[in-house]
Amino acid sequence: MNNGSMRAVGVIPAKRQVGVLSHDFPKIAKDKDVKVRTIEVGICGTDREICSFAYGTPPDDCSYLVLGHEALGEVVDGGNGVTAFKAGDLVVPTVRRPCPHHRCVPCAADRQDFCTTGDFTERGIKMKHGFMTEHFVEEEKHLNVVPQHLRDVAVLVEPLTVAEKALAQVWQVQQRLPATNGKESLAGSGKTAVVLGAGPVGILGAMTLLIHGFKTFVYSRSPVPNAKAAVVDAIGAQYISSQEMPVEEFAKLTGPVNLIYEAIGVADVAFKVAKILGLNGIYVFTGIPPEQEAVGVEADNLMRQMVLKNQIILGTVNADAAAFESAIRDLSTFKQRWPKALQSVISGRYPMEAYRELLLGKSTGIKNVVSIG
Ligand code: BGC
Ligand code: ZN
Repeated sequence: MNNGSMRAVGVIPAKRQVGVLSHDFPKIAKDKDVKVRTIEVGICGTDREICSFAYGTPPDDCSYLVLGHEALGEVVDGGNGVTAFKAGDLVVPTVRRPCPHHRCVPCAADRQDFCTTGDFTERGIKMKHGFMTEHFVEEEKHLNVVPQHLRDVAVLVEPLTVAEKALAQVWQVQQRLPATNGKESLAGSGKTAVVLGAGPVGILGAMTLLIHGFKTFVYSRSPVPNAKAAVVDAIGAQYISSQEMPVEEFAKLTGPVNLIYEAIGVADVAFKVAKILGLNGIYVFTGIPPEQEAVGVEADNLMRQMVLKNQIILGTVNADAAAFESAIRDLSTFKQRWPKALQSVISGRYPMEAYRELLLGKSTGIKNVVSIG
């Protein structure tokens, strides 16, 4: 069926439908455009939320939105102005595209991850089609080359950028402290980090913290043994089930905590765990909970603690090109250090037709991936 259209997994919000759609074959329209054949696309909580119609917006002129923002592809062709890529290169695209306003300094500086107007777009999420289809076209500057030896794991680059952007900010913010270890590769040595949640963002976050030298704990719901706990223990972090050990007891085990990396998207738990953050600590939120009924927070205690302990809570979303570069570099280190554990983060590869179980069914496994070509 290659008559100018191809298959894509998408949503039609007005009809509350999710399915395999027919989508126009993309064209190279500008000099700097690169045409990419999609190899595989990871699925995350954001995609599942779009499929519940709580999030996500199709392009202005379209009734549907093609899903997928965690992609790996192979370059097939390019416009005359393309210099950095050649056919056969493996590439991972970034997600966010700049807003059109000249007054937005971050967007003008290719830092749309800090867009000030909110009018940015995101491929597969907000007003731009995603990558869960056979081919896509993207401007050269939004693509990152991946070495061939990372082909089997490179679909993890985008979810890993969450940790990379977070850590880049942690180093910056903690420059406020005298005698910090700075930005060098083992800046976490002698320090303790807690990762909240053992999904892909949590596990990839734990790997990142470990290679920077942090003593790392992962605190997550499921009792042991379970597949996620096995990966966590295999990389040399320590998995603790929150069902088996309450926060107070967990705090005794960890000792003073310098950094908490939240990757769970549940506010109730995230705020309860805040009490274990130590002096001068930093707490990074990466989860995006759906809008819900209010939950109780020990607000006075939290405020008192944050002031008396010089603490920071930092929210972070999206990632810049530098975070993608760091992710590609660190993925290589992970692959060398933990080849089996890294592989097992990818819990399954499925055809497009499996979209229903993957996007609407119960969330299973760690990172599920749609194989396209
Ligand atoms: C994506 C980010 C995006 C965010 C909010 C996440 O799943 O990885 O790139 O900015 O959703 O839309
Ligand atoms: Zn995602």
